[in-house]
Amino acid sequence: MERELLELKQEAEEALAQVTGADQLEAFRVKFLGRKGGLLTGILRQLGQAAPEDRPRLGQLANDIKLGLESSVDEKKAQLVASVGTGGGGTDYSLPGRYLSFGKSHPVTQVMEEICSIFVGLGFAVAEGPDVETDHYNFEALNIPKHHPARDMHDTFYVSESLLLRTHTSPMQARIMERQDPPLRYVVPGKVYRCDSDMTHTPMFHQVEGLLVDRQVSFADLKGVLTSFTHKIFERELPLRFRPSYFPFTEPSAEVDVACVICGGSGCRVCKRTGWLEILGSGLIDPEVLKMVGYDPDIYSGFAFGLGVERIAMLKYGIDDIRLYYENDLRFLSQF
Ligand code: PHE
Repeated sequence: MERELLELKQEAEEALAQVTGADQLEAFRVKFLGRKGGLLTGILRQLGQAAPEDRPRLGQLANDIKLGLESSVDEKKAQLVASVGTGGGGTDYSLPGRYLSFGKSHPVTQVMEEICSIFVGLGFAVAEGPDVETDHYNFEALNIPKHHPARDMHDTFYVSESLLLRTHTSPMQARIMERQDPPLRYVVPGKVYRCDSDMTHTPMFHQVEGLLVDRQVSFADLKGVLTSFTHKIFERELPLRFRPSYFPFTEPSAEVDVACVICGGSGCRVCKRTGWLEILGSGLIDPEVLKMVGYDPDIYSGFAFGLGVERIAMLKYGIDDIRLYYENDLRFLSQF
């Protein structure tokens, strides 16, 4: 009987090693350890027939084998759960659910929408215009006649003699003013194109144009609106600097710098040690431009500005190479 027990133990251990699934494991348990018809139980039933002096030893041995097999079964069960996620033929409810990944807006789109919603909060409406623009709206209506040196700044992609890819969102100034009388307040988000490419320029980028026309609009209004906007978009009260500049369609004109978001103004690599970062061009609408759309500059005045969206997104997120936005690397894009 002792030999029978030891053989059974060995047979069971070999069989258990072959088990690869929950169903097999259950079959194994029934075959060797089952209460009715289990092999071990079968041997134990014969214990009564053994010599009385042998019984305690054999009983002890059979019990050790039984406990050993039971704990091997438990161990195997744990292994199966860990490797295939199911135990006892059922579902392992402790496993985490499957993650469904959702798409989302591009970071530049997100920032552009955020910019627009800040201006909507200030009472501006949103308008959009064509990417393929006429020479007239992109230049002439903005007081930039043919051969004007300002055209050189624009690195224009021409589609034909009179059609081009808009180099800025400013053509919408004239389009809006032509179809509507003051007072008006608009922002115009959109793509613009310039033949230029390096760490801080891509051939296509985004601007948000702002336009406000009413009676007695002054530079103070422009300052107030832009100050309130920058505080909101950068989520803190960074100082602004209005630096005199020139655009043919505004007079006076100013480029607006914000205190460096990285160093706060003390000077660093990002702001090239100046402490300031340029974020937009702006000014009071030139009376010539107002006259061309049929407004009387003695009654009406207004301001306009053009924000660089990628620029603001770079500053907001501390990114120093604009091209990252357009490489479509999901490891980069999914951070936003
Ligand atoms: N359109 C100008 C640019 O792209 C920016 C600007 C807009 C300046 C409106 C003044 C007023 O550089």
